[in-house]
Amino acid sequence: MNILLTGGAGFIGSHTCVELLNAGHDAVIVDNYVNSKPEAVKRVEEITGKKVKLYEADCCDKAAMNKIFDENKIDAVIHFAGLKAVGESVSIPLTYYRNNLDSTLTLCEVMAAHKCKRIVFSSSATVYGVPDEVPLREDMFCKGCTNPYGWTKYMIEKILQGVVVSDPEWSVVLLRYFNPIGAHESGRIGENPNGIPNNLMPYITKVAAGQLEKLSVYGNDYNTHDGTGVRDYIHVCDLGKGHVKACDYAAKHTGCEIINLGTGVGYSVLDIVNAFQKVNNVPVPYVIAPRRPGDVDACFADPEKAEKVLGWKAEKTLEDMCRDSWNWQSNNPKGYEE
Ligand code: UFG
Repeated sequence: MNILLTGGAGFIGSHTCVELLNAGHDAVIVDNYVNSKPEAVKRVEEITGKKVKLYEADCCDKAAMNKIFDENKIDAVIHFAGLKAVGESVSIPLTYYRNNLDSTLTLCEVMAAHKCKRIVFSSSATVYGVPDEVPLREDMFCKGCTNPYGWTKYMIEKILQGVVVSDPEWSVVLLRYFNPIGAHESGRIGENPNGIPNNLMPYITKVAAGQLEKLSVYGNDYNTHDGTGVRDYIHVCDLGKGHVKACDYAAKHTGCEIINLGTGVGYSVLDIVNAFQKVNNVPVPYVIAPRRPGDVDACFADPEKAEKVLGWKAEKTLEDMCRDSWNWQSNNPKGYEE
């Protein structure tokens, strides 16, 4: 298939692009580089030995999106594009709602006009809100999100579900990601956050590299085995393979499926710090700090539906994730800026 990746130059998009090309698909990327670099796409081409058609445009720009669909026969879309910083979304909610919702609406209108009716969407475990119980299953009631970023994911799920109700020829797969970390084993592509990272693994790699002084572990009085927050960390290449399976599924079925992409295993913040130090033989100084508002004790997936419906399950280990994250950081101390 010829697959359009919105936000395809970003962390998850670039790794998914590698997996799609390796599986024999063709890829077109549209990205506005708000949180990504075109260099990532060059490196995807270098890793795979294949060409990617690249457009610099904003998905809210209808004329630009129409041009992409006029110039290419797109069989399916994976919609990664979107603003994604939880804390920032609390400060500038209107920007988050405008950008994430507008881009999705524009994309769907342009897709419908071009009779392209297959879409895989980057949703998030954040839509489950504060969980009553774990592991999280797709059929659990989503009680509501704790920040505007999460609400945009929740609302986009509702928008796409509505599209399928209105036109049953559509095929929609809503992928709820847990915590993607790691990097391609080549060390050529990886996570490249703007400024000081908000998420755990990029913060750890920058501390290990000596670019940040120490990690603050947000709270050690959670109801978990060592008191620090537990999450379901998934290797970004496993996640990418899950998207390939989701595209294959969307090509054969219509309707809407919600699917968790996680491992089903929860690790605490200190489990991650300890594994990282051990695997890479590098110290990660840390202090225990107050809890971060909005964080929950534990969040991990029930990954069974992905295996049953898509025939996919995560294969890489925590050691792989720690090794590959560090390999990317140490080979690219300034990310894509050499
Ligand atoms: N943490 C620290 N110190 C840090 C950063 C994080 O102790 O400097 C802890 C957090 O308290 C949490 C864990 O590490 O216990 C993971 O935090 P992240 O910020 O890496 O990830 P979150 O689970 O908070 O959020 C992630 C994504 C969101 C998504 C959510 C879905 O960043 O986009 O998972 O559950 F919505």
